[in-house]
Amino acid sequence: MKFPTRILMAGLLVLAGAFSGPAPVSAETIAMIGTGNVGGALGPQFAKLGHDIIYGSREPGRQDVQELVARTSGNAVAMLPAEAAAAAGIVVIAVKWDAVEVAVMSLGDLSGKIILDPTNAVRRDPDGIRHHAVETSTAEFIQNLAPHAMVVKAFNTLSSETMADPSLAGGPVTIPIAGNDPEAKAVVAGLVTGIGFEVVDMGTIGAAHAIEQMLIVRGNAGVLGAPFNYYFRPLPESP
Ligand SMILES: NC(=O)c1ccc[n+]([C@@H]2O[C@H](COP(=O)([O-])OP(=O)(O)OC[C@H]3O[C@@H](n4cnc5c(N)ncnc54)[C@H](OP(=O)(O)O)[C@@H]3O)[C@@H](O)[C@H]2O)c1
Repeated sequence: MKFPTRILMAGLLVLAGAFSGPAPVSAETIAMIGTGNVGGALGPQFAKLGHDIIYGSREPGRQDVQELVARTSGNAVAMLPAEAAAAAGIVVIAVKWDAVEVAVMSLGDLSGKIILDPTNAVRRDPDGIRHHAVETSTAEFIQNLAPHAMVVKAFNTLSSETMADPSLAGGPVTIPIAGNDPEAKAVVAGLVTGIGFEVVDMGTIGAAHAIEQMLIVRGNAGVLGAPFNYYFRPLPESP
C-alpha cells in the first residue's frame, strides 16, 4: 500500500529531526480495533488531525461505542472489526493482550497495511509488581500473525489518560517506536508528534521487547510510589 505523500513526508521529517512541530494534517483512514481506554483516547485524537476514524467493535451498535463515535470529529463510524480493517490503511490493535490473537486473526488480510501496536502483555505479582509476560514482544507476535503487514510499536509506554490529554503530563512526553518498515514508522511518527508528543525511533521490531519492558519499569515505579512519564532529553550538540 502506498501512503499519501504528505503524511509520509511529514513523518520522515519528524524522524530526521528536521520537524519539531505537529505534522501537517493529511487524510488517512484509521481503523481502531477496540473501543476501550486506548481506542477511546487515540481515536478522537487522530480524528482531530483530520483522519477518518472507523471503530472496529464486536458490537458497533452498543451505546458506549456510539457515544465514542459521537465525540470523535470528522467522519467517524463504527462497524465490525474486519470491515473496519478492510477499509483502512492504518489498523490500531487497541485490545488487551489476551484478546490480541483472536482479534488480529479476525481482521482478514492485513497485507500492506500499517499495524500500530500499543499492546502490553503484563503479569502481576500479588503486590502489584509487574513482569513482561512474553518471551519476545507482543509486536513481534503480531508481526508473525500478519507477516505482510508493517507493524509499528508505539503508544504502549504512557497512560490512556495522557494519550487523550497530553497536557496532563505537565511537560513533554517521549514515545518510543519500533518497526521494520521506515515508511510505516514515519507515518506513525507523524501521528505521535501530531497529537503533541515527541518521538524516538528505537529501531527494528526486535526493539519492541525493550520498549515493552519500559512499560514494566514505568508501571512498577508507579506501584512503588514514584510515577513518571518518559521524556528523553537529547544530548547537547557537540560544538
Ligand atoms: N489503558 C491504558 O492506559 C493503556 C496504555 C498503554 C497501552 N495499553 C494497552 O492497550 C491495549 C488496550 O488497553 P485498554 O485499556 O484500551 O483495554 P480495554 O479498555 O479493556 O479495551 C479493550 C477493547 O478491546 C476490544 N476487544 C476485542 N476483542 C476483545 C475480546 N476478545 N475481549 C475483550 N475485549 C475485546 C473491546 O472493544 P469492543 O467491545 O468494542 O469490541 C474492548 O473495549 C492493551 O493491550 C493494553 O495493555 C493500555
